[in-house]
Amino acid sequence: MFLGNSGAVALTQFIPCVTIEIGNSLLEKSPRKCNILTDKEAATFMKIGKVGVVGCGQMGGGIAHVCAQAGYDVVVSEISDEFLNKGLAAIEALLNKSVQKERITQEDRDATLARLKGTTDTGDFSECDLVIEATIENLDLKKKIFGELDKICPERTVLATNTSCLSVMDMAAATVRPDRVLGMHFFNPVPVMKLLEIIRTTATSEATLETARDFGESLGKTYVIVQDSPGFIVNRLITPQIMNAIRMIESGIASAKDIDTAMTLGVNYPMGPLALADLIGLDTVLFIANGIYDKLRDEQYAAPALLKKMVDDGQLGRKTGKGFYEYT
Ligand SMILES: NC(=O)c1ccc[n+]([C@@H]2O[C@H](COP(=O)([O-])OP(=O)(O)OC[C@H]3O[C@@H](n4cnc5c(N)ncnc54)[C@H](O)[C@@H]3O)[C@@H](O)[C@H]2O)c1
Repeated sequence: MFLGNSGAVALTQFIPCVTIEIGNSLLEKSPRKCNILTDKEAATFMKIGKVGVVGCGQMGGGIAHVCAQAGYDVVVSEISDEFLNKGLAAIEALLNKSVQKERITQEDRDATLARLKGTTDTGDFSECDLVIEATIENLDLKKKIFGELDKICPERTVLATNTSCLSVMDMAAATVRPDRVLGMHFFNPVPVMKLLEIIRTTATSEATLETARDFGESLGKTYVIVQDSPGFIVNRLITPQIMNAIRMIESGIASAKDIDTAMTLGVNYPMGPLALADLIGLDTVLFIANGIYDKLRDEQYAAPALLKKMVDDGQLGRKTGKGFYEYT
């Protein structure tokens, strides 16, 4: 059944599961929700086969891990062999732990690793249907990467960013395919956290959104859709709380441990705001606060001096062994 209708505005409605036929290809859509697509949109909606991930740090490594474990062929890139080997070793260690804890079988582990290819050559993204950028939270770098990906990847490829707070439209503007650019914001640690924020810009097409929804569900994530706006939902709400907790330490109101104990036992948070900041990485927390503050000029996002000092001193939280707490 072909639902395209030349020149028609795309409609969204709940209808039973259908199969869309385009030329010789059949594109299955879930029974949950179907969009009536224009010809152009129908031609670009697709099932993802091969996934690219740029950056194999905390988040890129986690995203590559869950994609490979869900059955996708994955290519993940880093800036050097050293960073790449470190990132891939972290994924392997996690998979080994999952085998030990009998969460997955040895065969699952081996098959996941076999689907995962590391590279330091961006040219290796040339066959990907979806590329997710997960490098550091720096807009100039991300724009540069989007410009490069746009040239390397085929027209069909959807380009996504895992940015925590930056403008997705600014990255889309570095490409000639803004309709196929969106945010896919995973949470840390990616194999554990269920949420996926899907960020749509004013240029993101319905087909691209549908591709992202479908892909997110295939990873077992629950998605929410949010407009391209500083911090999206979670970071917009949680960042002022982390900044306030740090200001409380600066003012001597309470210790990190007591602030976190108060929020875990008093509000039923699974972890307090300072333990969360250590988990995210204090450099990333600072990038996020600055990124939102630059756009909103709202004082609640202004980074306290203590946070800046800790980042300058290389106390970045769990990833460096010291932040508000010490880690062995
Ligand atoms: N840490 C979190 O809790 C969290 C959660 C959600 C989203 N994010 C976002 O995800 C992104 C990555 O964060 P992270 O915590 O994984 O940072 P990270 O520092 O752990 O990893 C970033 C990696 O990107 C690599 N990199 C830099 N430039 C590159 C390039 N040109 N090509 C390939 N790799 C490159 C770095 O070498 C590094 O290993 C950021 O945008 C961050 O805001 C972070």
